[in-house]
Amino acid sequence: MNKKEIIEILKAQNSDEVFKYADHIRRKYCGNIVHLRALIEFSNFCKKQCLYCGINAKNKNVKRYRLSEEQILNTALIAKEIGFKTVVIQSGEDDFYDIKKMCSIIEKIKKMDIALTLSLGEKTKKEYKAYKSAGADRYLLRIETTDKKLYKKMHPGCDFQNRINCLYSLKELGFETGTGILIGLEGQSIESIASDILFFKKLNADMVGLGPFIAHKDTILKDAPCGSTELALRAIALTRIIMPNINIPATTSIETLLKDGRKIALKCGANVVMPNVSPNIAKENYCIYPNKQGICISNKTEFENLRNEIKSLGDEISKDFGISKNFVAQKNL
Ligand code: 5AD
Repeated sequence: MNKKEIIEILKAQNSDEVFKYADHIRRKYCGNIVHLRALIEFSNFCKKQCLYCGINAKNKNVKRYRLSEEQILNTALIAKEIGFKTVVIQSGEDDFYDIKKMCSIIEKIKKMDIALTLSLGEKTKKEYKAYKSAGADRYLLRIETTDKKLYKKMHPGCDFQNRINCLYSLKELGFETGTGILIGLEGQSIESIASDILFFKKLNADMVGLGPFIAHKDTILKDAPCGSTELALRAIALTRIIMPNINIPATTSIETLLKDGRKIALKCGANVVMPNVSPNIAKENYCIYPNKQGICISNKTEFENLRNEIKSLGDEISKDFGISKNFVAQKNL
């Protein structure tokens, strides 16, 4: 699909056919399988000033917290016992966790025999390399937007090229690499979303997360309108059609803005759900946007409830680590 065709579909009024086709493609290439990832938000300290984000360094109303290594490991262990096969550890850009601290956490989680995804922001190649050597499998770093001007405006003091370099470093180091964007940022054009999708392809991303922007009252963008869930679903469907064998989550921001958003996204090309398993201090204070409505799981009953929901969609929870088929295909080259 070329850019013009992508734009046309993103702008179309009725997307039912596109959603159906994306669902068909997902089932054909990834099976009737949904992968679960247990999300642990372990620190909301952040040195960045991203205009849209509720935990940006400038927000003085955030109660900042850090989980200790022991708390992170306990949470990961509980997630494993509940039935998760992957944990994702995510934080703001927090230099408190230096290479030594991070590698210790990574090594200990990997001893639990689960897949590990990191989402820690922009780090040096040396740091990424150390994380990989310590055993981390995957890394999530959304590009957020490939519109350079908009990127610069949304991320004061940040260098677009550095973020791109980070993503290529992650690929080169052998991480299963995830990226993604915000949908509906003030000043974002449909054309730029089409370019974003082509960028995912160019990078050969293994995972792509797309979620609508949600205004946070303590940010400069507090009065900006939220992103369109319909547009986000179209972008998910198109990404699936263009990259049939990658992993795509039903993002929490879609769930937050749209009733049954998780189920709907899983019918439009998404094949991953990332339930929050963080301790309460994190659930209460990791507020990148308000009213986060993502699914939380803290016991086996809740896990089984999700299993039933997934069954009702004609899918099953994956029994393995859920490595992106795109990643496997590259390894086998
Ligand atoms: N609305 C929606 N998504 C947001 N993120 C950050 N702030 C917001 C917001 N206000 C997303 C970013 C980031 C991910 C962890 O959360 O895309 O990469």
